[in-house]
Amino acid sequence: MASVFVIDDDPRIRSSLKEFLEAEDYEVSVYPTGEDALPYVYREIPDLILLDLKLPGIDGLTVLEKIKSRNTTIEVVIITGYAEVSSAVRAMKLGAIDYIKKPFDLEEMLLIIEKAVEIKKKSDQLAYLTREERELLGFGEIVGTSKKMKEVFDLIRQVADSPKTSVLVCGETGTGKELVAKAIHYNSERAEKPLIEINCSAFQENLLEAEIFGYEAGAFTGARQRKKGLFELAHQGSFFLDEIGDMSLEIQSKLLKVIEEQRFRRVGGTKEIKVDTRIISATSQDLNKRIREGLFRQDLYYRLNVVTIELPHLHERGEDIILLTEHFVNLFNAEFKRHVTRIDNDVKELLMAHSWPGNVRELKNVIERAVLFEKGELLSRKSVRLFDEPITPTAAISPTPVHPIEFEIPPEGISMDEIEKSLIEKALLDTNGNQTKAAKLLRITRETMKYRMKKYSLKKVIFPLHE
Ligand SMILES: Nc1ncnc2c1ncn2[C@@H]1O[C@H](COP(=O)(O)OP(=O)(O)OP(=O)(O)O)[C@@H](O)[C@H]1O
Ligand SMILES: [Mg+2]
Repeated sequence: MASVFVIDDDPRIRSSLKEFLEAEDYEVSVYPTGEDALPYVYREIPDLILLDLKLPGIDGLTVLEKIKSRNTTIEVVIITGYAEVSSAVRAMKLGAIDYIKKPFDLEEMLLIIEKAVEIKKKSDQLAYLTREERELLGFGEIVGTSKKMKEVFDLIRQVADSPKTSVLVCGETGTGKELVAKAIHYNSERAEKPLIEINCSAFQENLLEAEIFGYEAGAFTGARQRKKGLFELAHQGSFFLDEIGDMSLEIQSKLLKVIEEQRFRRVGGTKEIKVDTRIISATSQDLNKRIREGLFRQDLYYRLNVVTIELPHLHERGEDIILLTEHFVNLFNAEFKRHVTRIDNDVKELLMAHSWPGNVRELKNVIERAVLFEKGELLSRKSVRLFDEPITPTAAISPTPVHPIEFEIPPEGISMDEIEKSLIEKALLDTNGNQTKAAKLLRITRETMKYRMKKYSLKKVIFPLHE
């Protein structure tokens, strides 16, 4: 049942909305002013707020700003008089989802509310996809006819059919682990439910724990309000734990317990919450080695690894290289409105001979660039540029892969500072704001990172915990 707050100074609007929406099975609370409502907004976190713009005391726009600065997941629909439509537009810019003009029809209001609640539900289910998106993600997207990939397809089909089985997907960076995880989920009976993903290497330990298990208000400093963990959101769907090898031993033992008991507690919570989800984990590390080093729990390994899907390195499936190339050519033809229909033999030879440390992702990037630069029908040698090999072979399987970067210098020129600034921004973005990881990506120390961020006045990025 969705909860709705109505903030309006007109008692008739309050009572008619309350009566009408309660009959439609909404949980409704009404408030005459922003001052009255805000404390409850913060405490109860309704799904939706119907907010009048003209209010005695603090005005509607300010109320909206306050709500959004505390919690971006609460959807707000603005109620506005005829003369205030321009403020309604401002309200939309501030994050309101829709607005309705007074006087309004209750049925019309209901439609808007239903739409807003629907949107909210979707954004709550992080990785929720539409049916069309799901179909695109079927097996069709995973290209390959090599013997090794056929084995992979067989395994995907089998595990998709047993929706409780835990699966471990192993493979070097760029071999398609994420694609496989999606294929398993969207081909299983859980497909209509969310696939929730988390990259275990992207969070510091305590944040990772809060992300996965959620927390109760007051569980730690900064935990102002209850937050559901990703585990809860994955209920009836699948939970994709990427880079599982980077999970700390402490969280590993919690995870083990959840898997064994199928229930867990939020951080700081006492209530046991039941979950039914399939765990798909992925790693680009050698977990057996991590076990020998005492960094990964063997018992957890057995739990996660009921079925293992090993993705071969791209050079172990040489016969797929041209097929993948054609697939990516079609993809980028459509994206860049190009008309490449043939691939030069020189190009084929070059691609077949390359060692592909970045696997399929690297091939995809090379083809993207090539198609972008190719104006004709033939993909020619001059458009294809291979990236350099990494200096050490282990770089290809490092948990935070370093992707080759390419950029064009614009004709008007660009300053080194600007480039540096955007590189730092990109690294922070790619690591969910984790400065240590971002620094590592750029091969600079954390101190240098901090200094540069200050220099370019890049704020410490605090990523919302999907709240
Ligand atoms: N067999 C395939 N067919 C088509 N596209 C593929 C295939 N394998 C990988 N790709 C594409 O290559 C890119 C990298 O794949 P993906 O993200 O699944 O790799 P990964 O193993 O999860 O890498 P990482 O360890 O770096 O996270 C994606 O854009 C994906 O769509
Ligand atoms: Mg991945």
